[in-house]
Amino acid sequence: MTNTTPQSGRLWLVSNRLPVTISETEDGIDVKLSSGGLATGLVGLHKESGGGWIGWPGLATDSGELDQEIVDALAARDLIGVGLSVEEHRKYYQNLSNQTIWPLFHYFNERMHFSDEDWECYVQINRRFADAVLAQVGEGDTVFVQDFHLMLLPQMLREARPDLRIGFFLHIPFPSSELYRIFPKREELLRGVLGADLLAFHTVGYVRHFRSAACNALGLETRTSEVHVDGRKVQLMAQPLAIDADTWGVGSEEDEAEIAEYMEYLKHMAAGRKIVLGVERMDYTKGIPERLRAFKELLAEDPSRVDRVMMIQVAVPSRAEVHDYMKLKDEVDRLAGSINAEFGRPGLQPLHYMYQSVSPQRLRALYRAADIGLVTPLRDGLNLVAKEFIASRHQDDGVLVLGESTGASWELGEAVRVNPFDTHDIVRNLVYALNMPLEEQQRRMTPMRARIQGSSVEKWARACLDAIKASHSTDVRPAPMLGKAVDHLMDQLVNCGDGQCHLFLDYDGTLREFTGKPLDATPTPEILELLANLSAHPKISPWVVSGRPADLLHEWVGKTGVGLVAEHGAFVRPAAETNFRPLFDFVSDDWRDEVREIFEHFTASVPGARIEEKDVGIAWHYRQADPILGAWQAKELFQHLIEVLQDQGVQVMRGNKVLEVRPAGINKGNALRKILRDGSNNNDLVIAAGDDHTDESMFQALESHAYGILVGNRPSAAAFRVDSPAAMRELLTALGASSCTAKNTDNQ
Ligand code: UDP
Ligand code: G6P
Repeated sequence: MTNTTPQSGRLWLVSNRLPVTISETEDGIDVKLSSGGLATGLVGLHKESGGGWIGWPGLATDSGELDQEIVDALAARDLIGVGLSVEEHRKYYQNLSNQTIWPLFHYFNERMHFSDEDWECYVQINRRFADAVLAQVGEGDTVFVQDFHLMLLPQMLREARPDLRIGFFLHIPFPSSELYRIFPKREELLRGVLGADLLAFHTVGYVRHFRSAACNALGLETRTSEVHVDGRKVQLMAQPLAIDADTWGVGSEEDEAEIAEYMEYLKHMAAGRKIVLGVERMDYTKGIPERLRAFKELLAEDPSRVDRVMMIQVAVPSRAEVHDYMKLKDEVDRLAGSINAEFGRPGLQPLHYMYQSVSPQRLRALYRAADIGLVTPLRDGLNLVAKEFIASRHQDDGVLVLGESTGASWELGEAVRVNPFDTHDIVRNLVYALNMPLEEQQRRMTPMRARIQGSSVEKWARACLDAIKASHSTDVRPAPMLGKAVDHLMDQLVNCGDGQCHLFLDYDGTLREFTGKPLDATPTPEILELLANLSAHPKISPWVVSGRPADLLHEWVGKTGVGLVAEHGAFVRPAAETNFRPLFDFVSDDWRDEVREIFEHFTASVPGARIEEKDVGIAWHYRQADPILGAWQAKELFQHLIEVLQDQGVQVMRGNKVLEVRPAGINKGNALRKILRDGSNNNDLVIAAGDDHTDESMFQALESHAYGILVGNRPSAAAFRVDSPAAMRELLTALGASSCTAKNTDNQ
């Protein structure tokens, strides 16, 4: 497919695997779309939008190139293939995806292997996917990336095309941040996914873990459902994948005949015994050996059970080239053999073990014929099998015994829950399930089935797409404040009639360059003269808006005639007044002693760090600390403070080499709003300039026609930027020298 006439608003799905099976027939290449799972819910959506699905078609070649015949056969179904060579398949898919990220994210850190070579290949293949996407997308398009194979893709897309709407769904668990930090490229992976507008997970638990990791590893500011990165908000969402209940309802006549036939076979095999069913890929995360051991114990506890219960275990071959998976298969083969050898007798096998994939009709028959669905993965992002079993129980009977470490257990509260690591617990609950009266079975099953029938993959996808749309923000960088932009600003100043120009200037990093020691950043004679000139201008009302304490601001710039805002908006002193007054009502400062104690603890381990007590806040500076140690400890401290201070009505704020805790709601933006509310009119011109995070609240408070000027170059809510404090002073000098008329001082 080529992108000759880019259409707008299309949806592009991207996943490692395309949902297809490719085979060679006499008539050429045959592409069969997979049924079930994501494919069912998503194929319709991208078709409807005019977009496509981009992914690897499942065949690795020597060169990594796809045959033109395959490319064409895929294109006929709106699919775009990304080729992988045998070598790339090994490094990117088998190794980095399946032997590094997969085990770690499933809490099997001892199985994680990391190599730089595999990582480089992972980066390179993510880049190849990015190129494939970029070759297709047009303006206003949405890209929805699936799963852990492509965690770097969102950032690569964002860098090339900031206008794209990008969503990312993680289908596996996001582990606790303590575990996540083991990953050698933890920052890269996080930055990769944070390129998206929306990050979606199966459960709120994974969202929480992700927030902690972003906070811990990158020191980013997070809220319940968002992470702030490079001046952008990335939305976080928990939206568990759903199934299409209809697929598991009554099928076509032909399907039903096949299902009935297989059910008859199963009934015959069970010979009056209850059937316990396990279905999954042969994967160590699924707890198959643990489950077989539990079944063995069930029989050992009471060997007569062999006449009343049997187990069917379907283990679908998966990732069989990976060593851990080969070993697992051997173990399961041995265990299965030992159960039948120990407890079976001629004509009566307690365990029917199938190492194969089964047809959709047979799977439906299995789900319907079983009495107990035994789903006990050691760890699972969600688990669709549990949902499919429920959807297949048309009489609302049967029992789902569900491992508590599955994402699905968050939604399926009526299931019998077990600890999948505890053999006795599984046995105990299996006995309970085997003896459960029909009335209790239905009481548990009915609400779960209703829940599943009320959702669908398509609804899931639409919820994700709506959220991507709602969270998309363009991270356009501020435009340089040069040439015409400066002329326009000057024009507005000169021609604002009876209006005023309210000029809000941050101090450190904006008016004045940073110094090694914060107290050395005294104003130079040039700055003092500049501020005095601005104050004397008939149309300009300048303010210095700083995080510095009131006394210091007064001492440094208090005699230049500017208005002062101290401690990030806590105190204000208009130019015409002599005393500072609080701008907000302060809450109690019960938190201060606790914060000081934490700060002291961190200061003791970071030479050069220092605590600053302010009237309403307390700050921890690390400008003079070793940069690596300081930044690392600041991240830890930030995360710690956020957790400790939850619900105490305070905020933890990050500035340039400083963390500060102070009452919530006090920020420069709110101060600016208050000042303008008290003394401005519609003709007034408003300019705010600043360099760091704390200044973003000012930029966000500005109306669209006002001027936000960032000192520096990064995504920001400011519309304009200058490169340095020197450039800022130059601009201010020009403003101060502009021609003037009468000054209105009502607001002061
Ligand atoms: N499944 C399959 N072939 C089989 C048996 C099962 O395709 O022979 C499907 C099953 O219907 C389910 C999926 O495989 O939709 C497994 O999804 P789940 O979320 O349970 O685990 P995953 O394999 O994604 O880890
Ligand atoms: C899990 C992953 C999927 C993956 C599937 C099968 O469900 O989340 O991304 O496609 O397992 O694994 P495979 O390695 O065969 O693609």
